[in-house]
Amino acid sequence: MARNSPPSLASLLAQADHFIDPETGAVTPAIQPATTFARETTYALIGEHVYGRYGNPTLGQAEKVIAAAENAHEALLFSSGMAGFAAVIETLPTGSRVVAPRIMYHGGQDWLRRMGEKRDIKPHFFDAADPGALGAAIDDVKPQLVWIESPVNPTWDVIDIEAAASFAHDAGAKLAVDSTVAPPVTTRALDLGADLVFHSATKYLNGHSDVTAGCVAAREGSQFWDEIKYLRGYMGSHLAPFEAWLLLRGLRTLDVRYARACGNAMAIAEHFEGHRNVEAVLYPGLPSHPGHGIAKRQMTNGFGGMLSLLVKGGAEDALRVCARLELFVRATSLGGVESLVEHRATIEGPESAVPKNLLRLSVGIEAADDLIADLDAALRD
Ligand SMILES: Cc1ncc(COP(=O)(O)O)c(C=O)c1O
Repeated sequence: MARNSPPSLASLLAQADHFIDPETGAVTPAIQPATTFARETTYALIGEHVYGRYGNPTLGQAEKVIAAAENAHEALLFSSGMAGFAAVIETLPTGSRVVAPRIMYHGGQDWLRRMGEKRDIKPHFFDAADPGALGAAIDDVKPQLVWIESPVNPTWDVIDIEAAASFAHDAGAKLAVDSTVAPPVTTRALDLGADLVFHSATKYLNGHSDVTAGCVAAREGSQFWDEIKYLRGYMGSHLAPFEAWLLLRGLRTLDVRYARACGNAMAIAEHFEGHRNVEAVLYPGLPSHPGHGIAKRQMTNGFGGMLSLLVKGGAEDALRVCARLELFVRATSLGGVESLVEHRATIEGPESAVPKNLLRLSVGIEAADDLIADLDAALRD
């Protein structure tokens, strides 16, 4: 990097946007828990904050780093990913239509179905595995909002964000991208044309399975964005200062954590592709994956730490493999430093569209050889 060009994303994250406390010189921010902020005798505010529900210096610091990392106009942190998602959906007028993938984060999909029943916001689900399905659904439905995930959880189909933005904008819709599994170190959805980028910050952005948080960031200011801000302020769904501070700490190591998880996931995918007890390995980093070409363009710094194994047989066979694992932890969630395994069909219940023999792996930063050995032993005959 030339000395006078802006710092790379890795440097920006490592230094929390070159944070140095102007009063003390501290290289990490203090936690500011205040819920209210004093005024001068003139009644002018002393600082920029008014009341904790609308924002706070610690929250603002974490939002500033994420906005810089996403090349966003602004970022807002919520008390969970679902709180951020619900705020975005809440902005839609009654009678709106939303296009979203048929397999996506099931909580978001449940929420959309519920809005369909309660608020006449009609969700239309498309098959992310079919490259023509999104454009056709947008043409057909004329939605107000297109909500996509890429890669799609837990089949890891890759949706072309640039193409989705152009379809959505031609139809007068906004595009929101859930980029939880492809953080800005590898994909910058706003640069690819999305209007909003969303993260369950509970996952990679924090990375240590100890904060529940959500993030929504906008490419530009708009009435739509002001409405999301208004809703967060009045619904009180902002992230609390201590959690924001932990998240800021997690963000500083995002680049190295993600690189390590990507390397481990790739090693696992390559090792188990063609294994006698594995029907298929679903990982966008494999050249055999149908979305590999788009992933190469869109995931510029690693294909992620998430992959799924279709175990030969059915649900019982997948659950038996899961039960034999000793290093992978049987738990829901993803994006932490520890590796997790999940039988999604069990988690999502009888209505789930996820294959019954699918095991989802969230690959952490342990030694790749240990993870491979654990899976090898669990997949024995
Ligand atoms: C892809 C994706 N989006 C959204 C969410 C919801 O986020 P949270 O659990 O932080 O509310 C999750 C949670 O698992 C997720 O995996």
